[in-house]
Amino acid sequence: MRVFVTGASGWIGSAVVPELIDAGHQVTGLARSDASAAALTTAGAEVLRGTIDDLDTLRAGADASDGVIHLAFKHDVAFSGGFQAAADADRRAADTFGEVLAGSGRPFVIASGTLGLAPGRVATERDGLDPGSAAHLSGGPQTRHATALMTLSLASRGVRSSVLRLPPTVHGDGDHGFMATLVGIARDKGVSGYLGDGSNRWPAVHRFDAAHLFRLAVEQAPAGSVLHAVADEGVPVRAIAEVIGRHLGLPVAAIAPEDAAGHFTWLGGFIGIDSPASSALTRELLGWQPVQPGLLDDLDKGHYFHRP
Ligand SMILES: NC(=O)c1ccc[n+]([C@@H]2O[C@H](COP(=O)([O-])OP(=O)(O)OC[C@H]3O[C@@H](n4cnc5c(N)ncnc54)[C@H](OP(=O)(O)O)[C@@H]3O)[C@@H](O)[C@H]2O)c1
Repeated sequence: MRVFVTGASGWIGSAVVPELIDAGHQVTGLARSDASAAALTTAGAEVLRGTIDDLDTLRAGADASDGVIHLAFKHDVAFSGGFQAAADADRRAADTFGEVLAGSGRPFVIASGTLGLAPGRVATERDGLDPGSAAHLSGGPQTRHATALMTLSLASRGVRSSVLRLPPTVHGDGDHGFMATLVGIARDKGVSGYLGDGSNRWPAVHRFDAAHLFRLAVEQAPAGSVLHAVADEGVPVRAIAEVIGRHLGLPVAAIAPEDAAGHFTWLGGFIGIDSPASSALTRELLGWQPVQPGLLDDLDKGHYFHRP
């Protein structure tokens, strides 16, 4: 297949590209900068220059492909106060891909998330599907949820669409997400913290296992599939804090809820959430089996702690 990948230079995309190429597919990656274009060329992909706001470019990329994996997201804009603008741009891109692929039977895979799907219990692929399921969300997160539902609905318009939900931690060497932030906070504060009794569960996947599932999705997911790239169903946050404390030689301690924002900064709103997720249905549907180290073992490898 020739697969058009947006966000191909990102944390997950840069694992998806070699996963596809090693399986014999051809990849065209969207790149908005010289650096991203060079990285894609080095990885063996062809490059289409443009941004996700260039809808004609997206149309051309999708038109020339046998399928699309959409991973680009304006995290730079989202994390500087523009989450709604980023989510709106993402919706326009997904709508554009839907228009091009309608009636073709070609696959269209987008990234979504499991965080907050079913707080306090194990979320499955069947959660979050009814139109009212985003009632607890607002603003940009609600828009992203609506984009996922729209993508699934493309199944009825002749698109082999699927939504691949990622857990909030997609870990591995080079990760700059939640885990790296948690390590940085522990180092800054001199204590590796958790909220409450730390028993709240945090799901995770290694980025190479996630990349493998993106390949399976574009190759064979039935139209309208929801997939969960979850390897660790839910690691207690206290266990995460303990590994971090051990590696940094710091005490491990409960942080009072009223100090959450002060201690964990922007992570304070997330780190106390109990949001485990299952991938049993995904494993059954596609035969996906994670083979990379789990979150605690990956943290134990030390690469999160040897960074400047
Ligand atoms: N990482 C996680 O733990 C996680 C968890 C849940 C969901 N997700 C979702 O999974 C997807 C991929 O995440 P990621 O972690 O790989 O993100 P990332 O590392 O931030 O990569 C984002 C990608 O989007 C591209 N991009 C950003 N703005 C763009 C624009 N205006 N035009 C064109 N391309 C643009 C970036 O290009 P440059 O290389 O040029 O910057 C990069 O390739 C996103 O939808 C994300 O929200 C990720």
